[in-house]
Amino acid sequence: IDTAFRLRRDFAVVKVCTGYVLVLVLFTSDFIATEYLLEGGTVFGASLLVLFGLSVTAWTAAAHQARRGSVEAFNLTFADLIRVWCLAQDMAVGLGRAFWLLELEPEVVDAENPEPFPDMRQGVVFHNVSFSYQAESPILQDVSLTANLGEVIALVGPSGSGKSTLVSMMLRLFDPDAGDIRIDETDLRSIRIEELRRNVAIALQENVLFPVSIEDNLRYAAPDVSDAQLREAARIACADFVDDLPLGYQTELGVGGALLSTGQKQRLSIARALVRNTRVLILDEPTASLDAQTEQRVLSNLKTWAKDKVVFIITHRPSTIRDADRIVFLKSGRVTEAGTHDELLALGGDYHRFVSVEATKDAKDGNR
Ligand SMILES: Nc1ncnc2c1ncn2[C@@H]1O[C@H](COP(=O)(O)OP(=O)(O)O)[C@@H](O)[C@H]1O
Ligand SMILES: [Mg+2]
Repeated sequence: IDTAFRLRRDFAVVKVCTGYVLVLVLFTSDFIATEYLLEGGTVFGASLLVLFGLSVTAWTAAAHQARRGSVEAFNLTFADLIRVWCLAQDMAVGLGRAFWLLELEPEVVDAENPEPFPDMRQGVVFHNVSFSYQAESPILQDVSLTANLGEVIALVGPSGSGKSTLVSMMLRLFDPDAGDIRIDETDLRSIRIEELRRNVAIALQENVLFPVSIEDNLRYAAPDVSDAQLREAARIACADFVDDLPLGYQTELGVGGALLSTGQKQRLSIARALVRNTRVLILDEPTASLDAQTEQRVLSNLKTWAKDKVVFIITHRPSTIRDADRIVFLKSGRVTEAGTHDELLALGGDYHRFVSVEATKDAKDGNR
């Protein structure tokens, strides 16, 4: 029994010593890490320093407890210590990422003497635009297209062909690697970014609706519009279902627009883009969950509305695409065909094949 007791005592002493050594090692490594980061003068460095201070306190307290307590108590403290340490590491990594994001410099910046948004009397021109996200894999190659004032341009092509990338360049989320995009004669890069983005509206397939009233959702990007303008935007977007709700525009939406169907949410997002009344409107598949007839109605409303604007629409429905003023077919980042529905059908190429395939799908949907 004596031997067993002695063994246990020795064991405890060794454990305490190991604990101290471990703490010392952790201190040192943490200290070095902090020093290293502080040399860069980053906020992250400072946050680590704070964490370091906290850890010191925690360790000191734990060590005291361990020295006074029994072997069992120490075991517990030691495990806790490790847990806290791991937690601190996780926090440091998380904080590091957050601060890394905050410290990122935007790639797209204003020109030296940025110009206001042009009058736009002619329209938008993409001229030999090439772009890649990563150096080796080109996404857009030599894309040229003209969108005249008052025109609705349909961008068509298989998924991954670069349609979304192309329209995101209108907002200068990315700049072309080669070629340029002009509004009238003005290169997008010389327009003040804030003004450009104020004049270009975009509605996407997945839009965020806030858990506030429908009216507040619609007014969110254009707080000053009149009630009449709000209703007009809803009418064009075929979102007049709002009038049939018991509380109308005061209906409170749940988180992410719960309570509404996907199609209704999409119509609200289109209305939200329209209410801003911008010179350029982009619809990047926000009509995917509308039935073909509703989508067609939205487009025909848009054509009347867009007399002094340019509209880009990305959709897969031939019934809608055929009504566009011009169709641009993209394949692997290149424009393979461009023209009206009849012109492209007559070519008997990519667009022709696309229409046959999609029309079959539409027919199947209709029969369901
Ligand atoms: N942010 C991004 N970073 C890297 N590659 C991207 C990014 N966005 C899109 N891509 C790639 O670019 C290609 C074109 O995508 P996208 O423009 O979304 O096509 P589409 O809208 O026609 O489906 C795809 O191969 C896609 O994987
Ligand atoms: Mg897309």
